Amino acid sequence: MAGFLIAKSGPLKGRVTISGAKNAALPVMAATLLTEDICLLEGVPVLEDINVMSELLTYFGAQIERQGTALKIDNSNVKPGPAPIDLVRRMRASFLVMGGLLSRFGSAKISLPGGCAIGTRPIDLHLKGLAAMGADITLGHGYIEARAEGLTGGRIYLDFPSVGATENIMIAAALANGHTVLENAAGEPEIIDLANFINGMGGHVRGAGTDTIKIEGVKKLPGCSHTIIPDRMGAGTYMPAAAIAGGDIILTNVIEEHLRPVEAKLQEAGIQIYSVDEGLRVICERDKPGQCPLAPLDLKTMPYPGFPTDMQPQMMALMCTIPGTSMITETVFENRFLHVSELKRLGAKIKIEGRTAIIEGTEHLQGAQVKATDLRAGAALVLAGLAAKGTTEVTDIHHIERGYEDMDIKLRMLGATIKRIP
Ligand code: UD1
Repeated sequence: MAGFLIAKSGPLKGRVTISGAKNAALPVMAATLLTEDICLLEGVPVLEDINVMSELLTYFGAQIERQGTALKIDNSNVKPGPAPIDLVRRMRASFLVMGGLLSRFGSAKISLPGGCAIGTRPIDLHLKGLAAMGADITLGHGYIEARAEGLTGGRIYLDFPSVGATENIMIAAALANGHTVLENAAGEPEIIDLANFINGMGGHVRGAGTDTIKIEGVKKLPGCSHTIIPDRMGAGTYMPAAAIAGGDIILTNVIEEHLRPVEAKLQEAGIQIYSVDEGLRVICERDKPGQCPLAPLDLKTMPYPGFPTDMQPQMMALMCTIPGTSMITETVFENRFLHVSELKRLGAKIKIEGRTAIIEGTEHLQGAQVKATDLRAGAALVLAGLAAKGTTEVTDIHHIERGYEDMDIKLRMLGATIKRIP
């Protein structure tokens, strides 16, 4: 399996262009199932997860052409057969095709989803929403089957503002009969992007980005063109990289508002972040003795606009390098500390108490062989490797490549010493 070899690096200098957001592209691709017309998507990152969604849509009969970051999706010949287990297991977001298939064809059969090993990650909220719109749902032999003779809008309250459940329900409601009100909905920027896509096709979604989303179902949706928003997690990962290795970098293709929760925490630690014409400038002159003395942090992951759980491992890597005691409380996923044992192999001092990690930072991390256990955990190990003395080998980087486009190339362009090994 491929890996990254990383040497202690820094200061990082230069520009890094952020790709389109995987987590926005996946639900938008799933939502193209709502139409039999052609959809043109721009800014779609070249990533393994996007390939899985493309394979899944193609399996149903879609014709997909990619040119660089543009995807042309033609779903005119789609038929709702059972979604193959191997594709759905490879990526939890595969389950997002449920809403579109059910709403356009009246039936969908999908195996129980897989994805990153960061908790049990049930889909009860997706199913509760679809059932409230009149779907008849049965579970058996590892499959979930949903049937409906025309979905009907309803009032749905999510027990937790699940991103995926909000997206699946929004997609399903777009072609349902009547009005759907989704309360305690997730308000992540990716939800707004999905709403903009559905509305671009002629749908009626209002309130995306707030906790109440109202969807007026329409009879038919034509295709449309849409540009995917920049990846806030991608940008959010290079920001602490410049803090860990020290540096002065500019991130281009970013929406600063989406990065505010991350920006605020980094500024609290003492990192300078400025909005510039091209995007965001991140400065941490850590390489110069006595400069940029960083302060330990205390953070809690929360649904947006709280601190994103997808940035928690990368922030932990940063905290491992800041002398003093930092704390992280993970409230979104129950098992998202898999990177802790790997960071410890680099000499990090971390204690877990329930959902809280207590980190005693050190400026003396040591390179070692470590394993990426999931996407963001892998990114955190790469970042920690930038600060560790000697060489760090991160193995199992297929997890990282699910969600980061050319991470090694981008870091190398900033001056980091990182090499991909087969
Ligand atoms: C999405 C993101 C993922 C991110 C997560 C939280 C994509 C493709 N993935 O994942 O990167 O980490 O949001 O910001 O966009 N839950 C239930 N029942 C459900 C659904 C979720 O209990 O039916 C729980 C989950 O177990 C988890 C929490 O809700 O503890 C958040 O999950 P959710 O917001 O649904 O995450 P995903 O959509 O899977």
